[in-house]
Amino acid sequence: MTQSSGVPADIPAVINVGLMGLGVVGTGVAATLLRKNSPVSDVTGRSVRLKKVLVRDLSRPRDIDLPPGLLTADAEDILADPDIHIVVEVMGGTDPAESYLKQALSAGKHVVTANKEVMAKSGPELLALARENRANLLFEASVGGGIPIVGCLMNELAANDIRSIRSIINGTTNYILTRMAHHRTSFQQALREAQDLGYAEADPTNDIEGIDAAYKLTILASLAYRCAFQHEDVYCEGISKLEPQDFRYAQELGYAIKSLAIANLVDGAVQLRVYPAFVPAEHMLAKVDGVYNAVEVDGSLCGQVLFHGMGAGREPTTSAVVGDLIEVVRNMGRHAAPSRVQAGEGPQNGPALAVRPIGDLQARYYIRLDVADHPGVLAQIAKVFGDGQISIAAVLQRDTHPETESAEIVITTHPAKEESVQHALQAMAGLPQVRKVSNMIRIEE
Ligand code: NAP
Ligand code: HSE
Repeated sequence: MTQSSGVPADIPAVINVGLMGLGVVGTGVAATLLRKNSPVSDVTGRSVRLKKVLVRDLSRPRDIDLPPGLLTADAEDILADPDIHIVVEVMGGTDPAESYLKQALSAGKHVVTANKEVMAKSGPELLALARENRANLLFEASVGGGIPIVGCLMNELAANDIRSIRSIINGTTNYILTRMAHHRTSFQQALREAQDLGYAEADPTNDIEGIDAAYKLTILASLAYRCAFQHEDVYCEGISKLEPQDFRYAQELGYAIKSLAIANLVDGAVQLRVYPAFVPAEHMLAKVDGVYNAVEVDGSLCGQVLFHGMGAGREPTTSAVVGDLIEVVRNMGRHAAPSRVQAGEGPQNGPALAVRPIGDLQARYYIRLDVADHPGVLAQIAKVFGDGQISIAAVLQRDTHPETESAEIVITTHPAKEESVQHALQAMAGLPQVRKVSNMIRIEE
């Protein structure tokens, strides 16, 4: 049944959007919706209107001039308004965002969110709630900024058994690593720049310590393996332990240092991990610089596919959020069975998969030691490796400090089991001649 305009009768003449958050991303979304030729109306042919915008602080100066009456500090102005059909949540954090999303979905409102933390922690529950209420819940912007990876894993790549995902999915970290490696910028200065550019989370610890990437990997892996993983399943190390010497040695040995988020299947179980890694300089992931993100998916049918694009920032993230909004508006006119995304399928529908502990990892390792510059020290270190059945690939000794009789030794290994390497590092730290195990970084070939 259609109205004379050709629009199905159960679609409102004007589709109203409530926007929760007017920060880096919200401002981009609001500006796009308020444009004379908004892509949402242009593409869908429907009249889509921004009806309310929720903020925390009404007195804060904004980067955008909103029509009068749009701003509110009361979430009920959106959640309890029956004329608001779609809620776009770009506030961040779990409290109160998660309860707002539940309230919106329970009321049958469609939801678009950029919130990776909520989706990683409560995605399956929210998707089930969306399904119960026949509402759309879309979250493309939660991973990879402007890169369309979430929808592709759910739809275009769904025919594949996913062998692995190897990714750079935190723009702030990649920006910092790039600045440190190529511009000799200090960690603190590079972080400040990333914050000024709007890439960093409200609490940048989440970026730096790998937590943001772990949330995103949880979402990607849950979609790829159709299994509801917890973010605690992801082994996670940040970039704060990296020092300028590590970048120098990496370059000398032919590698770049990148914070990688990896999910792969090993003998029917999944390994999930985020850590800074040495990546061969000629590999595509080594060339992903600045705020750019990349996701390499290895599928049984498609082989290796690489997604590359801006992983954070106002415009790229707006692209993903508004793309979802367009999808929701399109879905609102469909009377056929809901699409996978609309129905909230994805996580949970596959077989339960075990998660392998990090100790099971087989990798090559870079190890940097601060040792006493005395005869026989190298032999003792070599013995610890030998006792652990760890084969040494190369040894470098560059910096010696006669005044303190210390030297810096760098060792790379052949593939070894992480558990054995960790034991060896503990044993080495106990040797009187080893002053410090300065760093251990995995080498991803
Ligand atoms: P942001 O700049 O910090 O903006 C957050 C907005 O939400 C602000 O307008 C804030 O209001 C509002 N807000 C926060 N808590 C609120 C509360 N309790 N009640 C009412 N309003 C509240 O954050 P953002 O960078 O735009 O990020 C938003 C979301 O998008 C996050 O989930 C983030 O992870 C995700 N994301 C961000 C990027 C990026 O590049 N920035 C990329 C992808 C995904 P006030 O303005 O009054 O403080
Ligand atoms: N803080 C995040 C990042 C924003 O730096 O990648 C995009 O999710």
